[in-house]
Amino acid sequence: MSILVLGAGGQVGREIAGRLGEADHALTHSALDITRPDAIARALDRHHPKVLINAAAYTAVDRAEAEPDRAEAINRDGAAHLATACAQRGIALLHLSTDYVFDGRADAPYTPADAVNPLGQYGRSKAAGEAAIRQALPAHLILRTSWVFGRHGGNFVKTMLRLARDRDALNIVDDQIGGPTPAAAIAEALLGLARTIVSGGAWPWGTYHYAGAPAVSWRGFADVIFAEALQAGLISRAPQVRAITTAEYPTPALRPLNSQLDMRDTEARLGLSPPDWQAALQALLRSPAFHA
Ligand SMILES: NC(=O)c1ccc[n+]([C@@H]2O[C@H](COP(=O)([O-])OP(=O)(O)OC[C@H]3O[C@@H](n4cnc5c(N)ncnc54)[C@H](OP(=O)(O)O)[C@@H]3O)[C@@H](O)[C@H]2O)c1
Repeated sequence: MSILVLGAGGQVGREIAGRLGEADHALTHSALDITRPDAIARALDRHHPKVLINAAAYTAVDRAEAEPDRAEAINRDGAAHLATACAQRGIALLHLSTDYVFDGRADAPYTPADAVNPLGQYGRSKAAGEAAIRQALPAHLILRTSWVFGRHGGNFVKTMLRLARDRDALNIVDDQIGGPTPAAAIAEALLGLARTIVSGGAWPWGTYHYAGAPAVSWRGFADVIFAEALQAGLISRAPQVRAITTAEYPTPALRPLNSQLDMRDTEARLGLSPPDWQAALQALLRSPAFHA
């Protein structure tokens, strides 16, 4: 009995794929398109997983405003196809979702029970995908995460390092607050859950939050990135940072001001603590991947 991972070429998917055991399998987008039910059926019948981890998604938050149909085909319908195929075969589904399902107007961290109200097409498509999974497949864990960073793919850490080398001064949004989350920690959390499910037993299925601590603004995150990058010898000087508001940095998609995800349920029922993003960032920036 094994684990099958989809979206294995992405930021989180690559971290999971790199940690799999011999009986497990990982498929990239080119090997399996989750918008195609026939391809999903073939892959599940070929690999016979006990647990399917879906790290595949449409993640272009701003582009989704211009192509909502594409975002929905992948994030809503793709998730629905996976859940239906898993239900027909007795497979459990571990799926990732996002803080962007919330509108960010709450004055406390969001719990999994809080009502969703996405501000943009990406968040809407992810919320619809969650709902489709809940309806089709009781044996699911949906893990909402936020502000993902790591060695693979594009992310805020890599953007800040590039800008630090190119610019003397930067304007960075200071009124959006969230939990930066290491992709590697998400991968370990998902694989730990998947392995426990593979070994059997009752399971508290449902929707959970998984985000790094402590919460910080994008500007606060950037400050730590520059401090750690200086220490690691990746940059020779930090750019001057000016804190700006979301209103001063208009983007096609609105983003929640409060992106904080409450993890108390996750700790109590799944035994997972919030990852320490500062320690993970320090290790990442000192790793050979960033010193090639
Ligand atoms: N990144 C964040 O800050 C963040 C925050 C909160 C939640 N999340 C959630 O975390 C999960 C993983 O995100 P990530 O950062 O790892 O995203 P990512 O780097 O964009 O990876 C997504 C992967 O999905 C693949 N994909 C896209 N359409 C597909 C399809 N139709 N069939 C199969 N694969 C497809 C992509 O392949 P191509 O590149 O070839 O299209 C890519 O390899 C997603 O569910 C996302 O919504 C991410």
